[in-house]
Amino acid sequence: MAFLFDVYSHKEAEQRIKMIMKDLSSSRSPSQIKKERHWQHIDEIISIARANLKKEKIADFLFMNVDDHRFATNEIVARYRAERLKCNTLIEVGCGIGAQTIAFAKTCKQVIAIEKDERKISYAKENCKKQKNIAFIHGDALKVVSEIKSADIVFCDPERKPEEKERSFSTIQPSITLLLEKFGGLTKNFCIELPPQMQSIPIEGELEYLSVDNKLNRLNLYTGSLARYKKNALLLPEKKRLELIDNVLPEAKNVEKYIFEINPAIKKAGLIDSLKIKDVKKVLVADNTYVTGNQFMKSSFFVHAYEFLCECASEKDLIEHLKKLDAGKVILRGKIPEDQYWKRRTTIEKQLSGSKTFTVFVGNTFLVCIQRKLFE
Ligand SMILES: C[S@@+](CC[C@H](N)C(=O)[O-])C[C@H]1O[C@@H](n2cnc3c(N)ncnc32)[C@H](O)[C@@H]1O
Repeated sequence: MAFLFDVYSHKEAEQRIKMIMKDLSSSRSPSQIKKERHWQHIDEIISIARANLKKEKIADFLFMNVDDHRFATNEIVARYRAERLKCNTLIEVGCGIGAQTIAFAKTCKQVIAIEKDERKISYAKENCKKQKNIAFIHGDALKVVSEIKSADIVFCDPERKPEEKERSFSTIQPSITLLLEKFGGLTKNFCIELPPQMQSIPIEGELEYLSVDNKLNRLNLYTGSLARYKKNALLLPEKKRLELIDNVLPEAKNVEKYIFEINPAIKKAGLIDSLKIKDVKKVLVADNTYVTGNQFMKSSFFVHAYEFLCECASEKDLIEHLKKLDAGKVILRGKIPEDQYWKRRTTIEKQLSGSKTFTVFVGNTFLVCIQRKLFE
């Protein structure tokens, strides 16, 4: 199978991708572009251009198509991990298009990057061409391990099937059990990225749930001397860490004056009780756990803050209250199926003519709140 670099030089490929990026930015559709430019590998070139125009930026420019973009490590996470895993020789198993490899090469003396996919490793080599301390190995990591003499750390961001509903330890590739067995002769220090949705993790070590810009991003499992903390959530880019402590947050039956939404990495890590903040309680609102208190407070562990105004028993009651509050728009929170969100919201908004926006938590009752700014 011919790849992009079998047909184009790297420079030529980059120039063509950048031309298509311009086309796409001036609202030309992929089908229009294909009619005008009869180039070899045009679908791949369009896909790489689209990946580089995505809002969720990975880096300035990388050879990666839209599928690669989904799995590539963004710069903030890559840099953080590279700092934490700084060592002499690091092996990266499944380097993909090299987004994480670039960062490792800046902190480690030597990086050995293994990838079984020929196209991806050809992109990785090009993406990492400025770094001279990376040895790339094309092949199955479980087979080529015998070629490696020594290592301090093994890092692996395994492959998971995009269509899989539930993330499970047994379906990710390469098999983590085999990885630990085969590379265990070189080092006991592993860092393995796992899907944060994974329920059961049968390996002892530090679990670090990462959020980037308040969105749940990744789960790192550290073993050997790399395991430094108890289970924790790390918020990036600010590097604020919440570690498991022996604490129980009291439970409130009803919301108090303020409702605070907790960072999703903290929730996923099961660390709500470790939020040892004075005068707050946990509370269930529309089937979700929040923190509530009578004082407004700013904390990097919170994502949003709301001031509670009133609770309405029915939709009719809700409309009456919203009218009195001069509401024009509502943002709905709670268990509303995605495909019904706009229908429900428009039904409510059609009955309003005011100018203000309120958040409504939809559960068995309706909680009307004003969203308060936590960050400037
Ligand atoms: C999630 S991706 C890695 C993405 C990478 N961190 C990046 O930023 O681009 C996982 C990679 O592992 C590779 N892989 C899976 N099993 C492998 C194996 N046994 N040996 C080598 N590579 C493997 C896949 O081809 C895939 O590119």
